[in-house]
This record gives sequence, C-alpha cells and structure tokens, in this order.
Amino acid sequence: MSQQPAPKTAPDEAVREDAITSDGEPEAPHLDFQGTTPYEDYVRASVLTHLQHPLSDDPGEMVFLVTTQVMELWFTVIVHEWHTAAQALREDDLPTALEALRRSTYELESLNASWKPLAHLTPGQFNAYRSALGDGSGFQSAMYRRLEFLLGEKSASMLVPHRGAPREYAELEKALTEPSLYDEVLRFLARRGHAVPAAVLDRDPARRYEPDPGVERVWQEIYSGPREDEPIRLGEALTEVAELVWRWRNDHLVATRRAMGAKTGTGGSAGVAWLEKRATKNVFPELWTARSHV
Ligand code: HEM
Repeated sequence: MSQQPAPKTAPDEAVREDAITSDGEPEAPHLDFQGTTPYEDYVRASVLTHLQHPLSDDPGEMVFLVTTQVMELWFTVIVHEWHTAAQALREDDLPTALEALRRSTYELESLNASWKPLAHLTPGQFNAYRSALGDGSGFQSAMYRRLEFLLGEKSASMLVPHRGAPREYAELEKALTEPSLYDEVLRFLARRGHAVPAAVLDRDPARRYEPDPGVERVWQEIYSGPREDEPIRLGEALTEVAELVWRWRNDHLVATRRAMGAKTGTGGSAGVAWLEKRATKNVFPELWTARSHV
C-alpha cells in the first residue's frame, strides 16, 4: 500500500513468525511516521471523509448524502471494469474480459446493497431535507450516464446538463462517440464467425443501441450450442450484469415511490412515472428475447 519505505521495519521483517515483543506480546503496529501515514497517502481518507456538507439541519440527510457518494464510487469502479472488458474484447482477450465482468457483478451487488439505508424513507423523513436539494437530482450524475452509455443507452442530449463542467463533458462526449461494451461484444462475436449483421457492426456508436433480429438469432444459436462454449459464458456474464442493473433501477424506483409517491422529481421529471418507463428498458435486449427461441 505504501509508496514510502516503512519507518522502522524492513519488509522481510514484516513476515517474521517471531514478531513477539520482549513481554511475549505480539508486536503492535507502528505509530511513528514522518508525515501523514502511508494509509492516508494511498486512500486519501481525510479527503473522502470531509466531502460531506449537508444542506439542511436534519440528522437524516447525512446518510442520504453518503449513500449517494458511495454509489458514485461504485459507478466509478464499474465503469472502470466495463472499460477493461471492452478493451480486452477489442484485443480478442476473452479471459480478461470475463474476469472484469465477473468483478463488476460483485460490485453491482454491493452497489445494490447500498440501497438499504434509503429503502424505507417515509415522505415525512424525505421532506425534512428534500427542499434543501433544490434542483439537484441523481439524473445529473455524469458517472451514471457513462455507465448507461457503456451499456448502449446513448443519448447526445444527456450531455447538455454537463456543459458547465468541462472535464465531465469531455469524458461523456468520448463515452458517447466510442463503441459501447455491447458494441465490442458484437464485434468480438463477428470476428469469431457469428453472423452479426453488417448494419449493426457499422452502426453509429453515438446512437442508442436498438434491438436487432439478426443479433437475436446469433444469441439463439450460441445458446443452442454446447453449454461450456465460451460465447455462452460471455452471454451469461452479460446477463448477470443486465439483471443487476435492472435490479438497481427497480430498487431506486421502489425507494422513490416510498419516499415521495407520485410527486414530481427534484430534477423536473414526472418522478415515479418517468423512472418506471426507464426501468422497463432491457439491458442487452437480445440476450433476453433470444431465450424464447432456444
Ligand atoms: C430515496 C431517495 C431518492 C429519490 C426519492 C430519488 C428520486 C429520483 C427521481 C424522481 C428521479 C427522476 C429525475 C428527477 O426528476 O429528479 C431520479 C433519477 C435518478 N436518480 Fe434518484 N432518487 C433517490 C436516490 C438516489 C440515489 C441515492 C442515487 C445515487 C446516485 C440516485 C441516482 C439517480 C439517477 C442516476 C437518476 C437518473 C436515472 C436515469 O437516468 O434513468 N437516486 N431519482
């Protein structure tokens, strides 16, 4: 973890089995450091734990803010994993892609578990700090938008809220115009000899991915083949991801319904009705529809 040499103990001493003090007690951790601790230098914990600035006096706002920040961090890790997977597929390196996708499913499970503290808010509890949020809404999360773009849910208009933030805008613009994770999956399958339609392979990656009957036939053929085939393992890893994203959307929807009923959202949408429509969208659509034909 440390970039700096440990102050007192050489690394090979750290694995000594006889790390026992003269009193016969196990050696305690080091206490003396020149500057900040190596833990702080790596984790930046003092930055992370001082980024909480509630906008109301309500004691319940802290967990709303921290849960949102925790979810932002999970979005960041998951985007990183899907980038790794997309890059590996581009290089025909399926094991690396599968490993990154598998890691992302554990991370998605942790992300989804983070709903727990917000899943039972009453309208009264939420109202206690809701007005302090002003027009702020998770809809304006740039990292969540990158995550959606990687799934193929592209939309140029989703860049508009970020015009005032050059770094986020540039990252989103790049994510909009480069192929999504699913685009890379389909290109990979085509290179493996599967009949992915040319129109899908040549599609404009900046546009929302639309389900294609030719792609559905590809997954149908793959799933009709031997169960241990590599493409099935890829299909199942993606299905796992799709299901967990769908669960995040639905847990968000239910938490919102409990906390604010059918009121309009702080971001200006119809609220639950708008989220319901979003939650019905299938991630990697043909992976679901192909199942009816196997
Ligand atoms: C119980 C608390 C919450 C309520 C009542 C709530 C409510 C809403 C509503 C009504 C929307 C629709 C847009 C709008 O008009 O604002 C929305 C969107 C969104 N919220 Fe939440 N939210 C909650 C917690 C969270 C948390 C903790 C996150 C984590 C970052 C989050 C992330 C998002 C995202 C990413 C969207 C956009 C979804 C999309 O584009 O499909 N929300 N939320």
